[in-house]
Amino acid sequence: MKVVDVSKGKQKEISKLIFNTVVPRPIAWITTVSADGIVNLAPFSFYNAITTKPPLLFVSIGKRKDGTEKDTVRNIKETGEFVINVVTETFLEEMVKTGEDLSPEESEVEKFNIETVPSTKVKPPIVKGVPAAFECTLKEILEIGDTPMNVVIGEVVAIHYIEEIINSSKGIVGRLGGKRYTVISDEVELR
Ligand SMILES: Cc1cc2nc3c(=O)[nH]c(=O)nc-3n(C[C@H](O)[C@H](O)[C@H](O)COP(=O)(O)O)c2cc1C
Repeated sequence: MKVVDVSKGKQKEISKLIFNTVVPRPIAWITTVSADGIVNLAPFSFYNAITTKPPLLFVSIGKRKDGTEKDTVRNIKETGEFVINVVTETFLEEMVKTGEDLSPEESEVEKFNIETVPSTKVKPPIVKGVPAAFECTLKEILEIGDTPMNVVIGEVVAIHYIEEIINSSKGIVGRLGGKRYTVISDEVELR
């Protein structure tokens, strides 16, 4: 096996190694609403659960190349609310399109004709047809790293789900390195 001493390694190589080995990463497809009422939708795969009591999730959101905040973070800071939609294969291509950099005045939901349904406790809507979604309020934002990243911690206030998801995760999408994704098709249950 090769080894990289991080203190001497190139950043590009370090990032590549992390992107390709911390896999598969779950995808938080996040809906937010700007202070002006524009619905934003974008995917984030540096995402996971922290604890279940209270239910806390985190998403790590970087800055744009020009150093400005991404719309998702700006909206969360302004409104304190967001919804995490779970992505299945049906939504894979649409989800990737919403990862494009649009101006704050443009809504991904409108541009890509993505249907939404209202949430129950927060303003950002849910993507219609997803198998699960978490309505969240902002708990805390930690600024970590050299970039720095905004590690957004959300407290889940409502969970939407289809019954089948309790027994099977088939169809849910994970991110791999580069532009590769995986769709859960195999499950091994140990007793
Ligand atoms: C599958 C996927 C996963 C992504 N994960 C992240 C991530 O974890 N953190 C991040 O900052 N950007 C991530 N991005 C890039 C953002 O989605 C992209 O910067 C997007 O334009 C942000 O949109 P916004 O400005 O509307 O918030 C990801 C993109 C894709 C397609």
